[in-house]
Amino acid sequence: MPQVIRIIMSAVILVSVGAAVARADAGDPVRGAQRFQAVCGACHSADPAVKRLSVHLKSIIGRKAASVPGVAYSTALKASGWIWTKEQLETYLADPKKALPGTTMMVAAANAKDRADIIAYLASLN
Ligand code: HEC
Repeated sequence: MPQVIRIIMSAVILVSVGAAVARADAGDPVRGAQRFQAVCGACHSADPAVKRLSVHLKSIIGRKAASVPGVAYSTALKASGWIWTKEQLETYLADPKKALPGTTMMVAAANAKDRADIIAYLASLN
C-alpha cells in the first residue's frame, strides 16, 4: 500500500511541476506588471491618459507599429510595416537595435523571463 501512495504522490508532483513550467513559458502577468514599471515605466505607461517619455502601450498586441498620433517615432519604426504580435515584441525587446536598425528605443529587456512576463502583462491589457 505505501508503494501505491508513493507512486500517486510522484504523479501528483510531476503534474504540478509540469503546470508550473507551462505557466513560466506563458509568462506571469503579475510579475510582468512589476517588471514593466521598473524596466519600461520611465518611457512607457500602460494607460493612454498617462504621458511618459514615449508612447503608451495599452492594447499593443495587434497594434500597427508607430501608429499612435502625435508620437515622435523613428523613420525606421514608421517604415517597419510591423504589427505587434507577442513574437514581434519578443524579438524587438531582446535587442531593439538589432531587430530594427535606426530605432530610437535604446533600452532592451535582456532577461528572457522579464521579457516573457512583461509581454504576458501587456497582452493582459488588450
Ligand atoms: C529610455 C526610454 C525607453 C525605455 C526604458 C523603453 N522604451 Fe520602448 N520605446 C522608446 C522609444 C523612444 C520608442 C520609439 C522607438 C522608435 O520610434 O523607433 C519606443 C517604442 C516602443 C514600442 C513600439 C510602440 C509603437 O507604438 O509602435 C514598444 C512596443 C516598446 N517601446 C516597448 C517597450 C517595453 C516593453 C519596454 C520595457 C522592457 C520599453 N519599451 C522600454 C523608449 C523606451
